[in-house]
Amino acid sequence: MQTCTIIIFGATGDLSKKKLLPALYHLDAEQRLTADTKIICLGRREMPQAEWLEQVTEYVSDKARGGVDAATLERFLARVSFFKHDINTPEDYKAMADLLKKPENSFSSNIVFYLSISPSLFGVVGDQLAAVGLNNEQDGWRHLVVEKPFGYDQKSAEQLEQILRKNFTEQQTYRIDHYLGKGTVQNIFVFRFANLLLEPLWNHKYIDHVQITHAEQQGVGGRAGYYDGSGALRDMIQSHLLQVMALVAMEPPADLDDESLRDEKVKVLKSIRPITSDMVDQHAFRGQYSAGEVNGQKIPGYLEDEEVPKDSVTETYAAMKIYIDNWRWRGVPFYLRTGKCMPESKAMIAIRFKKPPLELFKDTKIGDSHANWIVMGLQPDNTLRIELQAKQPGLEIKAHTVALETVESEDKKHKLDAYEALILDAIQGDRSLFLRSDEVNLAWKAVDPILEKWAQDKDFVHTYPAGTWGPDAVSTLMDDPCHVWRNNL
Ligand code: BG6
Repeated sequence: MQTCTIIIFGATGDLSKKKLLPALYHLDAEQRLTADTKIICLGRREMPQAEWLEQVTEYVSDKARGGVDAATLERFLARVSFFKHDINTPEDYKAMADLLKKPENSFSSNIVFYLSISPSLFGVVGDQLAAVGLNNEQDGWRHLVVEKPFGYDQKSAEQLEQILRKNFTEQQTYRIDHYLGKGTVQNIFVFRFANLLLEPLWNHKYIDHVQITHAEQQGVGGRAGYYDGSGALRDMIQSHLLQVMALVAMEPPADLDDESLRDEKVKVLKSIRPITSDMVDQHAFRGQYSAGEVNGQKIPGYLEDEEVPKDSVTETYAAMKIYIDNWRWRGVPFYLRTGKCMPESKAMIAIRFKKPPLELFKDTKIGDSHANWIVMGLQPDNTLRIELQAKQPGLEIKAHTVALETVESEDKKHKLDAYEALILDAIQGDRSLFLRSDEVNLAWKAVDPILEKWAQDKDFVHTYPAGTWGPDAVSTLMDDPCHVWRNNL
C-alpha cells in the first residue's frame, strides 16, 4: 500500500459526494489506506472544518451498505480536511503548495490530483499546478485522475489531450471509465482467459451475434443541461459500452500489466468497420422518451423538462450495430444499446451462439429462442448464466433449456462500488483499468460520423413512452429476423 495525499478538486460536487468520498471511506474500512494517507477537499466557498466533516459523515453513511462503523468513521474524518480554493486564482495554488510543504502538516509528497470538475477547467488547473511546481515528480509521484467526458468528438478530444499533455505525461494521467471498475466487466477477461473451454468457441465460427445492453429507469432528472448537449451515444456508447465490447472481443493479452491489456483493446477498436455517413441509418438508431410510466410513477416526456429546448432531437436511447473486421470476428454483429426511462435498470452482455449444423430437435424449436447463450449481468448484480439444451424429463426425447448460473452474492455491507477499485488502482499506480489516449481517440472515431449525421438531421427522432424498451423500429438494425433484443438476464 502506498501512502499519499489525495486532493479532490470539486469536492463539494455530486460525484465527490455520491461516489468519491464514500469509496474512500469504504477503502479505509477495508484497511486499504495507509495510516498516513490524507484527503484534501477543495471547494469554492469558505466552509468551517466542522461543517464539512458533518457533510462528509452524511455522504459516507450509506444505510444500504450497513451504515458506518464509528471507529472507521473517526479514523476517516481525521484524514479529511477542507480548503477554500478558487480554480482560477494563482494565489490559491501557491497556498496549496505551501500547505503541502510544511513538515508539521505531514502531507505525503506522493499526490493524487482528482479532477472532479468540468473538462473545460483541466487546462487552467494543469497550468496553475505547474506554475507552483506541483506537477513535477522530484519529491514524490503525481497521478492526475480525470473524469469523462473526454471531449465532444474526436477533434475536441485531441485538443483536450494536448491541454493535459502540456503539464502531465501520459504515464501520470488516469482517465476514469467507471465501467472498468465493475465486477462483471473485470470478470469478462477472467472468465474468458481462465477457461480453456471457451477459447475455441469465442469467434465468428460459433458466435452468431453479441448484444450489450445498458438500460436505466431514471431519466435525465437534474442533468438535462449537460445531457441535452451530449445524448445517449456520447454519454454511454462512446465510452462505457465500447469499452465493454473491446473486452469481449479482444485477443488474450500477453500479461495483465497496464500496456498489454490496453494494447489489445486498441486493436479491437482499430478493427471496427468505419461507418460512413451513408451507412448511418443501417448502423445506428436513436430515440427520445415521451411521457409514460416507470415503476408505476408518471414520468413527463424528455421535451417537457424545463432545461430541454422544445425542439431538441437529443437521443435518450441509442443503439448501434458494429462489425469488427478481424480474423476472429468478421461477420459477427455486435449490437450495443442504451436507454433512459426503461422499464428496468440493468446492464448485460448477451452472447448468442449459432445453431447446430443439423437441427435434430427441430420440432422442439432449438434455434431462435432456444439457442445457446452466455449472459453476463453487470447490473443490478454480477451474474453469469450459460444456457444449454438438455433432454426434458419424461418418456419423449425433447430438448429444453437448462442454465448454469452464478450470482456473486456479496454481503451487502461489502458490495464493492466501481470507484473503490479504480481509486485504489490510481493510488497504487496501476493504469490497466484506465483509458489510454489512443483508446479514447479510436472510440470517438467510431461514433463521430453518426454524431455528425444526427446533428444535421434535425427533423425527426423516434420516440418511445417512458417505461418501455425503446422504439420498436430499432429492429431495422438487426441483420436477421432471429436477432431479437434480449431483455432478461
Ligand atoms: C454515466 C453517465 O457515465 O454513467 C450517466 O453519464 C449514466 O448518464 C451512468 O446514468 C450509468 O452508470 P451506471 O454505473 O449507473 O450504469
